[in-house]
Amino acid sequence: MCGIVGYIGKKKQAAPILLEGLEKLEYRGYDSAGIAVINNGEINFAKAKGRLRVLSEKTNGGKDLIGCAGIGHTRWATHGEPSDINSHPHLSQSGRFAVVHNGIIENYMELKEKLIRKGFEFISETDTEVIAHLFEYYYKGDIMDTMIKVIDRVEGSYALGVLCSDYPDSFIAVRKASPMIIGIGNDENFVASDVTAILKHTRQVCYVEDNEIVVLTADDVKIYNTDKEELEKEIKTIDWDVSAAEKGGYEHFMIKEIEEQPKAIRATISPRIKDGKIVLDDVSLTKDDIKNLRKIFIVACGSAYHVGVVGKYVIEKMCRIPVECVIASEFRYSDPIVSKNDLVIVISQSGETADSLEALKVAKNRGARVLSIVNVVGSAIANASDDVIYTWAGPEIAVATTKAYSTQLTVMYLLSIYMAEKISTITSGQYKKYLEDLEKLPDLVAKTLENKEQIAYLASKFYNCHSIFFIGRNLDYAVSLEGSLKLKEISYIHSEAYAAGELKHGTISLIEDGTLVVALATVDDLFEKTVSNIKEVTTRGAVVMGLTTEDRSMTGIADYTIQIPNTNDIFLPSLTVIPLQLFGYYVAANKGCDIDKPRNLAKSVTVE
Ligand code: F6R
Repeated sequence: MCGIVGYIGKKKQAAPILLEGLEKLEYRGYDSAGIAVINNGEINFAKAKGRLRVLSEKTNGGKDLIGCAGIGHTRWATHGEPSDINSHPHLSQSGRFAVVHNGIIENYMELKEKLIRKGFEFISETDTEVIAHLFEYYYKGDIMDTMIKVIDRVEGSYALGVLCSDYPDSFIAVRKASPMIIGIGNDENFVASDVTAILKHTRQVCYVEDNEIVVLTADDVKIYNTDKEELEKEIKTIDWDVSAAEKGGYEHFMIKEIEEQPKAIRATISPRIKDGKIVLDDVSLTKDDIKNLRKIFIVACGSAYHVGVVGKYVIEKMCRIPVECVIASEFRYSDPIVSKNDLVIVISQSGETADSLEALKVAKNRGARVLSIVNVVGSAIANASDDVIYTWAGPEIAVATTKAYSTQLTVMYLLSIYMAEKISTITSGQYKKYLEDLEKLPDLVAKTLENKEQIAYLASKFYNCHSIFFIGRNLDYAVSLEGSLKLKEISYIHSEAYAAGELKHGTISLIEDGTLVVALATVDDLFEKTVSNIKEVTTRGAVVMGLTTEDRSMTGIADYTIQIPNTNDIFLPSLTVIPLQLFGYYVAANKGCDIDKPRNLAKSVTVE
């Protein structure tokens, strides 16, 4: 969703740095952009609907906006259509303040009405303009006091960057339930929605908590609480390689990230298996805690939810504890029956997804213990959880997740085996075998990726389809959900995933001559059952692309067969998903779609 970059330095011009930083945040999704720069106490700005290229052309690559401090923003429209006027930064009536904002101000109507009564005129339809005018309304000469008043009045989520013409050598920022990090450089400092925007300039970062106010100058960063007490914050070093956030010769981030999966899975597993044992240093659940669990909930959105669907099968099979996997936006408003004997597992790549974060709070308020599986270190969901297991996927830039999904799945396996061993629902022999197989997974994923040519060929045959169905049973059904989402989100082809046995209860009426059905039949003891379901659709004219393990044949059953290496059933989803990711990718490439930035989508969904 929206992206923020703020810069202050001594010699370098801010605008080109802001534009470059915003470019790195493009993947979050946006429909307009803007920057404001302060020079000799005067704020100048430029905004443009559309891609950053338009803003760059409008400002001559930023050269037309002079000044060493500024703020920039990419906007993903919520309140008001994408337009120049609705783009950020928003200026207060006198032009003294310029504001960029991520998030949503929930009480903006009430504040707007009040400000209108006080004589303020609004020119945009946004909630953010309220903040710019509020700054002016409360300002009595001290920017910090004003910030404290403003955040006391607004309700909702925000990451704010604010320039004030009375403070030409600093700018101020704050966050609540919306991502923001601080970058500390030499004679220059930054704020940004995430580290990819500033990685080129510095690796020293500081994570800001809710309602901490940051004052940045070229040579200093100070962070205060709302009582104006200065806070000591830890500075962390980001060890991501800059190239991790660059395309590095690949045509799209998505294919690069698909290829990175063996490495990411290995990085997630390796440090956690020591001397033949799973070591989860960050998990404080004891044997008794696990034994006493009444129920486990897995709560997440989108692909992360699909990991949860796999997780339900795996945890129940291994630990014999009942698991319910719930979409976060449903969980939070369902008055869930969750209490202190329950474990709630929240899965999120970004760690900022608004619905997942709110679901987490609901669970905590009801006394449940929360364990999160998160990729972005120091993110809101990680901070709010009792225990966190980080996925070591590195930065994921393509909107459609691939390596984050795979590493989340890996953590799910680690956690399930870990818990099962603790409560002795698996034998020591099974435990040993699971670990051996798990450690082989990165190589098997690499082997599965070798089959790219066949998938590219199949994609070139089917990219003109209007509708594609994915079917499977149990774990294959769980992966079907992800395969279908991958395809539709980037290729814009209608697609549905169905439990194979459920098709005949209605959906089969959509099958006609030539409809493509991707049938997943990897789970050993369900193979024959799925074959029966394949027959039901071929009889009605469907063309079937079957996906099974290398030791099985689908000749005479499916029109085309994709084979994956064999492994323990529970780890198969990690392999099954690979051809489906590639299929979605190549279909979208054949159609000429904007693969890394699909229409209407955002990487980090910070609104509910
Ligand atoms: C799909 C995709 C989304 C995310 C979902 C949750 O490819 O990426 O469905 O999985 O928006 O995001 P996180 O994991 O950041 O909470």
